[in-house]
Amino acid sequence: MSRTVEADTGAPARRVALEVLARVEDDGAYSNLVLSPMLDRSGLDATDRGFVTDLVYGTLRRQRSVDHLVDRFLTTAPPPAARRALRLGAYQLAFRDDIPSYAAVSATVDAAPKRFRGLVNAVLRKVATAPVQYPDEATELSYPDWVVELLGADLGPKVTEAALRAMNEPATPTTRDDGYVQDLGSQLVAELVAAGPTDVVVDLCAAPGGKATAVAHSGALVVAADLQPHRAGLICRNVERLGLDGVQVVVADATHPPVRQRAADRVLLDAPCSGLGVLRRRPDARWRLDAGVVERLAALQRSMIDAAVPLVRPGGLLVYSVCTLSRAESIGVDEHVAAVHPGLLALPPPGEPWEPWGRGALLLPQRLGTDGMFIARYRVPAPE
Ligand SMILES: C[S@@+](CC[C@H](N)C(=O)[O-])C[C@H]1O[C@@H](n2cnc3c(N)ncnc32)[C@H](O)[C@@H]1O
Repeated sequence: MSRTVEADTGAPARRVALEVLARVEDDGAYSNLVLSPMLDRSGLDATDRGFVTDLVYGTLRRQRSVDHLVDRFLTTAPPPAARRALRLGAYQLAFRDDIPSYAAVSATVDAAPKRFRGLVNAVLRKVATAPVQYPDEATELSYPDWVVELLGADLGPKVTEAALRAMNEPATPTTRDDGYVQDLGSQLVAELVAAGPTDVVVDLCAAPGGKATAVAHSGALVVAADLQPHRAGLICRNVERLGLDGVQVVVADATHPPVRQRAADRVLLDAPCSGLGVLRRRPDARWRLDAGVVERLAALQRSMIDAAVPLVRPGGLLVYSVCTLSRAESIGVDEHVAAVHPGLLALPPPGEPWEPWGRGALLLPQRLGTDGMFIARYRVPAPE
C-alpha cells in the first residue's frame, strides 16, 4: 500500500485499529465483519480507512511473527491491551517499509492506553533496532504449525511455502461486469459449470450467491439453496440487486436436498470447507481453525456429494468445488466418488491456470494471486 509519511495522521487511525483488534480478541468478532461499521463510526477519511484496514488485517495475519519479535524483549506476559499495541507497532516496524520507524513507534505509543505507553515505547524501540530473525518457517510466515505441516505433507514444502506467502498478501478485489465483487478464482469455478440457457442448475451451498448469480447470467434457471436462513437471505439480496429473475432461493440441507432425483442438468456443490485457500481474505481465520477441521469437513463433503449425485439427470454434470488446498477435501473426496459412484465419468481437468490434481484441478493462490480452489467435474452417463 502506498502511503506518504506527510499524510500520516498518527494516533487516530492506530487508535481505531486497536479498537477493532480488541473487538476481535475480546468478543471473538470476525475482523472482516466488524471493521466496516467501526470505520463508518470513526469519521476517518478514505485514505485513513485504507490505512486502518491494512493495520488490522496485517497485524492479525502476522500475529505469530510479531509476537516473536516482541517477546524477545518481554520478561512477563503483558496485559491484552498492551499486547495489542505491541503487535500493531511491531507489524508496522517489520512489514510496513513505507512507515519510518520513529513514526511507527511514536504514533503507536500515542494510540496505546496511557498506563501502557512506557512499556510499549521501550519494547518497540528495541524491536525497531534489533535484527529480524525467526526460529522456524511457521513463525516467519505466521501460521499455526499444523497448517504448515498439513499443507506441507499434502502439497510438498515448496508449493506450500509459496501458497502461504501468497496468502499473507492482501486480497485484490475483482469486479464482474455486472458489478458483483468476486474473487477471480470463484469466477473461474462458475465458468466451469458451463451452464446453457435451457439448463436447470441446482447450487446446493449457494450463499451469498456469488457463483449462483454468475451462473444465472447464462440464462439457466438456478435453484440456489443454503442451510442457513440468514445466508439464504444474502442470496435474495444479491439476486434482487443484480435484477436477476432466473434464481429461486431455497433454505435446504445439502445432505438431504428437497430436489427430485435426476431433475437437474447441472449440480454445483461448492461445499463448506476449511478455507485453507482463502486465508488472505480472512486474516484471523488461521488462528480460529483447529487441526481437526479438515477431517470433519471432508466427512461432510463426502455425504453432500453422495446426496448430490442422484439429482443429476443422465448426461448431466456434477461440479464439486472447495476454496481449500487440503488433500482430504480435494483428492480425498474424489477418491470417495471413484469408490462409491464408479459410474460417474470424471471430466478432464481444465487447463491453465488450473493444475491437474487427482482427477480434478487445483488453482494455487500463488498462480494468479487469487483464492486457492479445487474443482472436480463429473458426467453422469447417459443411457446407451
Ligand atoms: C463455500 S460457501 C458457498 C459460497 C457460494 N457458493 C458462493 O459462491 O457465493 C458454503 C456455504 O455452504 C453453506 N452450508 C453449510 N452447511 C450446509 C448444508 N448442510 N447444506 C447446505 N448449505 C450448507 C454455508 O452456509 C455456506 O454459505
